[in-house]
Amino acid sequence: MEELGFYTLWSYAHPRAIELAARIASLAPGDLNRVFFTSGGSEAVESALKLARNYHRMRGNGQKHKVIAREIAYHGTTLGALAATGITEMRSQFEPLLPGGCHVPNTNIYRWPEDRHPLWAATAIEERIRFEGPETVAAVILEPVQNAGGCFVPPDGYFKRVREICDRYDVLMISDEVICAWGRLGHYFGCDRFGYVPDIVTVAKALTSAYAPMGAMIASDRIAEPFLEGDACFAHGFTFGGHPLAAAIAMANLDVFEREDLCGHVLAKEGEFRQMLETLHEIPIVGDVRGAGYFQAIELVKDRETKESFDDEEAEDLLRGFLSDELYRRGLICRADDRGEPVVQLAPPLIADTEQFEEIHDVLHGVLTEAWERVRR
Ligand SMILES: Cc1ncc(COP(=O)(O)O)c(C=O)c1O
Repeated sequence: MEELGFYTLWSYAHPRAIELAARIASLAPGDLNRVFFTSGGSEAVESALKLARNYHRMRGNGQKHKVIAREIAYHGTTLGALAATGITEMRSQFEPLLPGGCHVPNTNIYRWPEDRHPLWAATAIEERIRFEGPETVAAVILEPVQNAGGCFVPPDGYFKRVREICDRYDVLMISDEVICAWGRLGHYFGCDRFGYVPDIVTVAKALTSAYAPMGAMIASDRIAEPFLEGDACFAHGFTFGGHPLAAAIAMANLDVFEREDLCGHVLAKEGEFRQMLETLHEIPIVGDVRGAGYFQAIELVKDRETKESFDDEEAEDLLRGFLSDELYRRGLICRADDRGEPVVQLAPPLIADTEQFEEIHDVLHGVLTEAWERVRR
């Protein structure tokens, strides 16, 4: 702040933003080397959607404007990001949204019939592209682990297949890592965990460990190429995108990541965290435990054998009438959510260790046992 209170990144630049962009590019996989700063996640997603449209238009494919996203996924609150968001209640008050949002099934494997092919949900993306007409589809956007609905992990081979499909139909693959980047899954980027290289990655939140508002869209050299010719430009930007203070904080934050090997810590300890959560299976309300890294969900059910879930009124009573308040009151900040089926989601600080896992366990065990007693009554 003392060095530079503010400077815009429209046409200009300043040292901290340049250093941070170079650092992010060096950490990002493949040729994801072009960093575009924003003030948060929705702006990063909005930027990615606009870049995807603009990229295709620059290459003479101006009809390509649709975006395919997954049901129940949350991608942000601005009208473009909302068009990708797959949660009806979040969209309905603001219709009509940006045209072109299409939705396909997510990877809620717990609710799939046992004989369903593991790549069924990937194939659904291809079918949707063909149904819409590949000449109209600009991008597919997905999270490495889908947050809304409760930490849906991909089946083996899912992202490889999605990458192939995107390449086949000249559709950009956007990895929305507003949650999954920066250590949450034990890697700087969620796509590294699952071994795919998208065309665009969106990040925010932990880029500064939330000490300052900042997001970024990271695009591959290939996607940036048409904008580097002649006087072409991506006519898009935010006044506060790449603010010097936020950039300096992000640099300091990444210093801590390196110094304390936070990604290594998550990878070393995620098994222990998960095992602790699995022990909660002794409480009949626990239907499924799923997730990756320090990002795990517990799906709650009325009957574990049949996987019967709660109706709207019961879910309301369980989540907002009891769980949310009770978990908070006992000192566990986590999310009790029913954008899909009722889940409790846990995303502990990346430095969490055995002692904190035990603390989390004790609160969850007490509260979920009580929740089950309420359900049985
Ligand atoms: C996957 C994902 N994308 C986008 C967003 C929007 O980010 P923001 O709230 O910073 O605008 C969120 C927010 O939680 C998110 O989880």
